Amino acid sequence: MSGFIIRGNIYHTPVIGSYEVREHAFLVCENGKCAGIYEELPDYYKDYPLTDYEDALIIPGMVDLHIHAPQFAFRGTGMDSELMTWLKEQTFPEEEKYADPDYAHLAYGIFAEKMKKSATTRAVIFATIHKEATIQLMELMEETGLISYVGKVNMDRDAPPALKEKGALFSTYDTIDWIDDVRTQYSFERTKPIITPRFIPCCSETLLDQLGEVRRLYDLPVQSHLSENPGEVELVHSLMPDTAFYGDGYDRFGLFGGEARTIMAHCTYSTKEEVERIRKNGVWVAHCPNSNMNLASGIAPIRRYLTRRIRVGLGSDVAGGQTESIFRAVTDAIQVSKLYWRYIDPKARPLAFCEAFYLATRGGGSFFGRVGSFTRGSAFDALVLDDSSDLHPQPMGVRERVERAFYLGLDTSGIIGKYVAGRKI
Ligand code: GUN
Ligand code: FE
Repeated sequence: MSGFIIRGNIYHTPVIGSYEVREHAFLVCENGKCAGIYEELPDYYKDYPLTDYEDALIIPGMVDLHIHAPQFAFRGTGMDSELMTWLKEQTFPEEEKYADPDYAHLAYGIFAEKMKKSATTRAVIFATIHKEATIQLMELMEETGLISYVGKVNMDRDAPPALKEKGALFSTYDTIDWIDDVRTQYSFERTKPIITPRFIPCCSETLLDQLGEVRRLYDLPVQSHLSENPGEVELVHSLMPDTAFYGDGYDRFGLFGGEARTIMAHCTYSTKEEVERIRKNGVWVAHCPNSNMNLASGIAPIRRYLTRRIRVGLGSDVAGGQTESIFRAVTDAIQVSKLYWRYIDPKARPLAFCEAFYLATRGGGSFFGRVGSFTRGSAFDALVLDDSSDLHPQPMGVRERVERAFYLGLDTSGIIGKYVAGRKI
């Protein structure tokens, strides 16, 4: 791969709590990476092909640290219950359908197409327990050009018969088969497997133990759910009464950070000890505010996590979340942080726009490496936004225009360019 240049109004947040604006600047891509931002283009780059986006906005691509592909079909419906009821009544009946490859192909095709058109450039995705359907999803995601991790889900208890794998060993062997197939029969460049125990209520200790072993063997990352909803937390406590806290139930099997690069979605009710373990083990928290509102789960104390230098990214958590829009996740994160500050903890200062923007880009992007800003050497993941159709009588700076694009949801109509690791989508 060689180099090219795009030009426009650049906004990014290399460091949390601040932002950089470069007006009408040249953003240089070399071998899929950012090579620099220039107001005056150095002679060295004069022969690189240039796309001038003129007055458009250029920002890093959005990272979705937590989304369920098989739930995309019913997003925006069945929102009148809490997590455990919602899983039984809405989610599991839909996920059962992915035993049928025709249904999976149709549904995952719709999902992948929507992801391609979205502001998301990288995603970490739950599939279902079904090996074939999971591979179909990986093939479709690979075709989108996005970079993603996809997990075949493991469940061996507390699920309807069609979604309960036939014992821990069956679930583990099927997972090994899936990993081997993905590694040997498919040459995915952009789509990688991730170990995905659904959550402790659906996974026996035997299964978690075996998955920890598989993880080590293949050196794969991990994703799961943690301390999302009061009823769920209580259930986990009764299932594993000897654990110090919910996350300890993953940690004792090597599925909670440390050598295992791990994302835990939600962390709404993490105890002090759990928060400390998250920090110590370098677990990424996937904050999913839209889902937390819809399922009446609560508000995750993100300011507390940021103060402790815990890694935090954003997740859409479709279909607990109603939309794949990470623009929406950014504004939701800010809005719930204001309610948290007002109603719960006056010391937890609300998130500023540039902080929530950081979570959506560099915060989640760090799970993928040097991703989420335009600093030299970062992956060239960029979005170009045309906000000119939303007229305004007054002059408006780049920072305000970016903020406005998020609040007005311009990711549905305003994306005129999308690049992932230097590749135009
Ligand atoms: N916990 C276990 N499974 C799920 C799921 O599918 N969605 C959410 N939001 N939480 C879960
Ligand atoms: Fe989830």
